[in-house]
Amino acid sequence: MFKVSAKELFLWLKDDASKRDNKESLYLLIDLLGGISKQDLNSLRIDSSKEIYLKQDIKKLNSYWNDFINKEIPIQYLCGYTYWRDLKLKVSRDVLIPRRETEQIADIVMDICRLKKKVLYADLGTGSGAIAIAIAISNKNWRGLATDIDSNALNVANENFQRLCNTSNIKFYCSNWWKPLVNYAGKIDVAISNPPYIPSKVYEGLSTSVKKYEPEIALKGGEDGLRHLDQIIKFAPKFLKKGGWLILENHFDQSNQVSSLLKNNSFESIEVINDYSGIGRFTIARYK
Ligand SMILES: C[S@@+](CC[C@H](N)C(=O)[O-])C[C@H]1O[C@@H](n2cnc3c(N)ncnc32)[C@H](O)[C@@H]1O
Repeated sequence: MFKVSAKELFLWLKDDASKRDNKESLYLLIDLLGGISKQDLNSLRIDSSKEIYLKQDIKKLNSYWNDFINKEIPIQYLCGYTYWRDLKLKVSRDVLIPRRETEQIADIVMDICRLKKKVLYADLGTGSGAIAIAIAISNKNWRGLATDIDSNALNVANENFQRLCNTSNIKFYCSNWWKPLVNYAGKIDVAISNPPYIPSKVYEGLSTSVKKYEPEIALKGGEDGLRHLDQIIKFAPKFLKKGGWLILENHFDQSNQVSSLLKNNSFESIEVINDYSGIGRFTIARYK
């Protein structure tokens, strides 16, 4: 731990860091690397004569901040962690930084299954494990299956699971979408996926911080962005129970196409759910 005066920290914030206009990222850095939350910082402003203990000294914070500003490396990768829902998840460049809009997907699943005591769910393309773990923590009697094509991503997911859950209710599998779940054919109550869905042309226009540092395999969905959604929907009937649910995240303008794919593959009760910004981000449906 590094003992500094709050004044010193505020001086750095004022003189160096806040010259670049990105306060939220700065707070995140101080929280994840320095161990001082935004709330703590605000209360220190009232009495800046206090001494505080930082997990890293100001020089180190400053060097990370410069990497964020000059090289556009996401703060979350620099610090190795992110906040998502109420979880602090480990992240590395092998996994997508789980997004704010995806937080809602766990609530959708839990709402749909609220009357069931035992649920078998599958999180396809689990990445950091965010979705599967959030569901597992709230539902200790449910069983989860989580797949990803990337074994390094699965290592991160597994590590998050071991650290955050004191249960053993998720099994991890490395392979293509449904492929490793043959033993569960016809037995899954609900499957969730936030697959790579960015159309090729849109991907080219994304920021450097995304294109250079986040895994391409987690984002690119082929020319129209639907390549993986199509695969997941086509094979879903083999794995879901009759009456089981498929809960998908898609790009802001894909819900009509995703709904058609669902309709053509024996799904009913198709519904598009808006995210908190009012965008039709989730398409859900029930297998007939
Ligand atoms: C958009 S990320 C979602 C990660 C995480 N579920 C989340 O919401 O933050 C998509 C994930 O799908 C995985 N993926 C890509 N192609 C896959 C495939 N063919 N089979 C299984 N997983 C795949 C990627 O490795 C990545 O972890």
